[in-house]
Amino acid sequence: MRSYTSTILVATAALTSAQRPNGTSICDYYTAALLKENNATNQMTLLTLIVNTAVIGNYTQPNVGISVPGILKPGMYNDTTVSLAPYFDGSLASSNRGGDHGVSVNFLDDGVASPLLMNKPSNGTTSRQ
Ligand SMILES: *[C@@H]1O[C@H](CO)[C@@H](O)[C@H](O)[C@H]1NC(C)=O
Ligand SMILES: *[C@@H]1O[C@H](CO)[C@@H](O)[C@H](O)[C@H]1NC(C)=O
Ligand SMILES: *[C@@H]1O[C@H](CO)[C@@H](O)[C@H](O)[C@H]1NC(C)=O
Ligand SMILES: *[C@@H]1O[C@H](CO)[C@@H](O)[C@H](O)[C@H]1NC(C)=O
Ligand SMILES: *[C@@H]1O[C@H](CO)[C@@H](O)[C@H](O)[C@H]1NC(C)=O
Repeated sequence: MRSYTSTILVATAALTSAQRPNGTSICDYYTAALLKENNATNQMTLLTLIVNTAVIGNYTQPNVGISVPGILKPGMYNDTTVSLAPYFDGSLASSNRGGDHGVSVNFLDDGVASPLLMNKPSNGTTSRQ
């Protein structure tokens, strides 16, 4: 997750030529740089964009020419293919909710990518997603 987040921050940094002043927080700086007005709504939107981009890959327009694969898509790390989706869609007994054994949990049970594309975490409010 960390490396994807820094990819996005690098991508956002490429948008702005100025350097973030020491006294300005990352949230204040990038909200103003990317969404113009720095207020609570836009700070929330900025974090949503970062998290959703980490999950489904770059999806906003305009994009800055840096492709972010997203953890749900097959990726490549150090010449090795990586597929993390099975850890989230219930294909593997990989959740630590079973006490002494892993259990299968589908965390993508409410629309998968389609609500994320609309800057929402899920379609409804009662799903595991
Ligand atoms: C920001 O902090 C760094 C390290 O403390 C310092 O070298 C730099 O001069 C500071 N920049 C500004 C604009 O204050
Ligand atoms: C923040 O600014 C946006 C416009 O960029 C506006 O739509 C939104 O209502 C504002 N939110 C607050 C809490 O003022
Ligand atoms: C993601 O970024 C790449 C590189 O800029 C671009 O080719 C691709 O169209 C982007 N994907 C979406 C869904 O915007
Ligand atoms: C990449 O793979 C090579 C060969 O297996 C290994 O020596 C190296 O430490 C790996 N690098 C990273 C950053 O994982
Ligand atoms: C979630 O909403 C999208 C867009 O309205 C729809 O295409 C999709 O079928 C919905 N999925 C579920 C599981 O409700």
